[in-house]
This record gives sequence, C-alpha cells and structure tokens, in this order.
Amino acid sequence: MKKIFCLVIAAALIAGGYSLSISNGVWAANPAKPAAKAGKVAPQGSCKSCHADFSSVIPENHPPVKGNDLSACTSCHAPDLAGSIDKNTFSVRMHLAHLPPRGKVDCLVCHSWQDAKSFGLIGYKDSWGSPAADEMKLIREIFESWASGDFLDHLHAKGSISCANCHGKAFPGFDVTVGNKRCLECHGPMEQLVKKTEPPEFKDRNPHESHLGEIACTVCHKGHSESKVYCLECHQNFQMTIRGEAKTKP
Ligand code: HEC
Ligand code: HEC
Ligand code: HEC
Ligand code: HEC
Ligand code: HEC
Ligand code: HEC
Ligand code: HEC
Repeated sequence: MKKIFCLVIAAALIAGGYSLSISNGVWAANPAKPAAKAGKVAPQGSCKSCHADFSSVIPENHPPVKGNDLSACTSCHAPDLAGSIDKNTFSVRMHLAHLPPRGKVDCLVCHSWQDAKSFGLIGYKDSWGSPAADEMKLIREIFESWASGDFLDHLHAKGSISCANCHGKAFPGFDVTVGNKRCLECHGPMEQLVKKTEPPEFKDRNPHESHLGEIACTVCHKGHSESKVYCLECHQNFQMTIRGEAKTKP
C-alpha cells in the first residue's frame, strides 16, 4: 500500500515539473531541477489518485462536496492567511491524515513552494511566507513532531490546534516564537491559570506566580522540544512536573 502511494506521489510530482530525491525515507521535491515529462498521471494538487471521491473520507453530517481536487474543499474552507485564534479542524485533520506517521503524502501534493520566494496552496495565488530549503526541512521535522511527538506541539495537535493557531500570521520560520499574549488568548486570563495550578500544599510554589515575576511561558513550555520546570534549576527539593517532557530520554 505504502509503495503505491509513493509511486503515485512521485508521478504526480514529476508531472508537476519536480525532480525527486529521498531524504529520511520521504519523497522530497527539488523545484530547481528541470521538468520531467510523465504519462497519464494525476496532476499535482489532485486528490483523485487516492480518493475516487470524498464521500468516504469527509466527516459525518458534512455538507455534500462536488469535484475531486483541493478546490472542492477550498470553495468553502478558504485558506486562513490571517492566522486566526479559532480552531481550524479542517487544517488539522488534513495534515494529520496525510503526513507521517499516518500518511506519507508530500507537502507539495497540496502546496506550491518556490525556494525562498513563496509557500502557498495549489490553486491560490496568495503566499503564507517564503521559506528556503533549509527552513522547509525544519518545518517538515516540526510537522512530524506536532503529529506524533512527546512535546507541547503534539498535545496541541491532539486538541485540534494548528501551527497558525499558535504562530498567528507570522509564517513559522527560523527563530520564531510565541508570545505570552497569544498563549493566554486560549489559556488565560492569567489569574485563572494561576488559580488552576496552585499547589494544594505549598501555595507559594506556583509555577505561574512566583518571585520571578512575569516571565515568558517558553522559559518552561517549549513548543517543539522538551519542556522543563525552570524553578527546579534552583529548587531541587520542589516536586513539580510539566506536560511535554520527553517520555523517551535521549
Ligand atoms: C497519496 C494518497 C493520497 C492523496 C494524494 C490524498 N489523500 Fe486524502 N487520505 C489518504 C489516506 C491514506 C487517508 C486515510 C488516512 C488515515 O485515516 O489514516 C486519507 C484521508 C483523507 C481525509 C480524511 C481525514 C480525516 O480526518 O478523517 C480527507 C478529508 C482527505 N484524505 C482529503 C484529501 C484531499 C482533499 C486530497 C487532495 C488535496 C487528498 N486527500 C489527497 C491518501 C491520500
Ligand atoms: C459546501 C461547503 C463545504 C465544502 C465544499 C467543504 N466543506 Fe468541509 N466543512 C463545511 C462546514 C460548514 C464545516 C463545519 C464548520 C467548520 O468546521 O468549518 C466543515 C468541516 C469540515 C471538517 C472538520 C470537521 C471537524 O472535525 O470538526 C473537515 C475535516 C472538512 N470539513 C473537510 C472537507 C474536505 C476534505 C472538503 C473537500 C473535499 C470539504 N470539507 C469541503 C463546509 C464545506
Ligand atoms: C492533503 C493536503 C495537504 C498536505 C499533504 C499538506 N498540507 Fe499544509 N495545508 C493544507 C490546507 C488545505 C491548508 C489550508 C488550511 C487553512 O488555512 O484553512 C494548509 C495549510 C498549511 C499551513 C498554514 C498554517 C496552518 O496551520 O494551517 C502550513 C504552514 C502548511 N500547510 C504546511 C505544510 C507542510 C510543511 C506540509 C508537509 C510537511 C503540508 N502542509 C502538507 C493541505 C495540505
Ligand atoms: C502550542 C503552540 C505551538 C504550535 C501548535 C506550533 N508551534 Fe511552532 N513554536 C512554538 C513555540 C513556543 C516556539 C518557540 C521555540 C520553542 O519554545 O520551542 C516555536 C517555534 C517554531 C519554529 C522555530 C524553531 C527554530 O528552531 O527556530 C518553527 C519553524 C515552528 N515553530 C514551526 C511550527 C509548525 C510548522 C507548526 C505546526 C506543525 C508549529 N510550529 C506549531 C509554539 C507552537
Ligand atoms: C488557539 C488556542 C491555543 C493556543 C494559542 C495555545 N494553546 Fe495550549 N492548548 C490548547 C488546547 C485546545 C489544548 C489541549 C488541551 C485542552 O483542551 O486544554 C492545549 C494544551 C496545552 C497544555 C497541556 C495542558 C494539559 O493539561 O494537557 C499546555 C501546558 C499548554 N497548552 C500551554 C500552552 C502554551 C505555553 C502556549 C503558548 C506557547 C499555548 N498553550 C498556546 C489551546 C491553545
Ligand atoms: C516557571 C515555569 C513555567 C512558566 C514560566 C509557565 N508555566 Fe505553565 N506550567 C508549568 C508547570 C510546572 C505546569 C504544571 C502545573 C500543574 O500540573 O499543576 C504548568 C501548567 C500549565 C498549563 C496546564 C494547566 C492545567 O493544569 O490545566 C497551562 C495551560 C500552562 N501551564 C500555560 C502557561 C502559560 C500560558 C504561560 C505563560 C503565561 C506559562 N504556562 C508559564 C510551568 C510554567
Ligand atoms: C535562579 C534561581 C531561582 C529560580 C529559577 C527560582 N527561584 Fe525561588 N528562590 C530562589 C532564591 C535564591 C530564594 C531565596 C532563598 C531561599 O529561601 O531558598 C528563593 C525562594 C523561593 C521561595 C520561598 C522559599 C522556599 O524555598 O520555599 C519559593 C516558594 C520559591 N522560591 C518559589 C519558586 C518558584 C515557584 C519558581 C519557579 C516559578 C522559582 N522559585 C524559581 C532562587 C530561584
């Protein structure tokens, strides 16, 4: 089954003018190389190579869908370029279903990408950002961590939170972060969070209200790597745990 998918994607990408290389067992496309011609294969952006129609994969009680490519969806699910705070279950489910570990569909079956120039959705002229090749490599790794890892990103994927729900309008690239204000739009207000995490025994050992004052959430909560309770660097005797610690220690 997996092999068939790879072939289909390879063929689709070649038809779209991309040459291929394999990295980490995933097909990667190199748009810089000249186009190769292929036979009767579904074009890039087509879904019909794998889904004859969508009736079996769209959610229950979903409005009826006409067509068999991505534009059949985007007519109602317009891409969110503004990075809204509202849960985007469409984006989350599309990525979780097709990317590792559940699937092996390459990003470029659905997205258009020009090295360091643009990154958009096939059929749309708008671009989210301009990732270069090394940045795309990082973003692919982060997608895998988000879909299945041990960290904060995966806790959010399970809660139907997409990249843009945290990162907002800023396209995720090297060195981006997420400010407290954004986290608190979903987890705040601060007073409520403080109350929630007040330890019943030692009330002053609250990670969210201490003599450190107002500090960045990311001092302890890391987006895509192991979260750590900063307090413990000085107070080894405190008993504190945090979600998003690596389950499998390196
Ligand atoms: C290379 C094959 C392949 C291509 C191309 C492909 N899909 Fe899928 N799709 C799958 C597989 C396999 C699943 C089932 C994944 C699972 O449930 O583990 C799936 C699942 C889905 C689901 C169900 C998601 C969910 O949360 O249950 C939807 C919706 C979907 N695909 C839409 C699309 C659309 C739209 C396109 C075109 C833009 C597309 N697919 C292109 C293989 C493909
Ligand atoms: C006629 C309009 C329309 C079209 C076309 C459409 N959708 Fe939807 N879709 C909706 C509405 C309305 C909802 C519910 C509100 C929401 O979550 O946006 C929804 C929700 C969803 C959800 C989220 C369900 C959940 O978990 O909450 C998925 C996944 C989805 N659609 C997939 C697709 C796919 C894939 C296509 C294209 C093959 C598609 N839709 C085309 C209107 C549409
Ligand atoms: C099956 C189709 C499909 C595949 C495969 C896919 N995407 Fe997407 N992606 C979408 C759709 C549809 C949207 C638009 C969702 C929206 O804005 O409502 C999207 C949106 C995005 C966004 C905007 C932010 C967000 O959270 O919605 C980023 C970034 C992104 N994709 C990156 C990737 C990368 C990187 C890969 C490969 C690792 C990938 N996508 C694979 C369909 C896909
Ligand atoms: C829970 C909110 C959250 C979600 C969801 C999220 N991120 Fe992040 N991301 C962060 C935080 C916080 C940082 C800052 C670095 C850190 O603390 O790990 C970050 C950093 C990054 C960076 C910079 C990393 C570096 O090494 O320079 C990239 C790229 C990135 N995220 C991409 C993504 C992508 C792609 C997705 C979706 C698959 C995503 N993020 C989903 C919170 C999130
Ligand atoms: C768009 C809304 C949204 C944003 C922005 C957001 N989160 Fe979340 N967060 C959620 C959802 C939804 C969950 C899943 C569990 C739940 O429903 O509370 C979650 C889970 C968590 C958890 C695990 C809680 C638990 O008990 O499992 C922590 C910790 C957390 N978020 C911290 C953060 C931090 C830190 C940021 C900023 C870097 C952030 N979140 C940004 C919505 C959001
Ligand atoms: C000094 C380290 C530290 C900082 C900074 C920090 N947290 Fe936490 N956070 C923790 C710890 C430890 C826990 C687990 C507490 C518990 O389980 O009672 C936690 C738990 C959480 C939870 C889950 C609460 C629950 O049990 O439902 C959320 C949500 C959260 N933090 C969000 C934030 C946000 C948003 C910020 C920034 C405004 C922030 N944290 C700053 C250490 C920190
Ligand atoms: C850079 C080191 C450092 C960090 C990080 C730090 N503290 Fe402290 N803390 C101290 C010092 C120094 C004192 C005063 C000396 C003492 O009593 O141990 C103190 C005192 C305290 C006290 C009162 C005395 C006690 O031991 O009960 C509490 C409660 C406390 N810290 C909680 C926290 C919490 C909660 C965090 C994380 C949000 C934190 N501290 C992070 C250095 C630190």
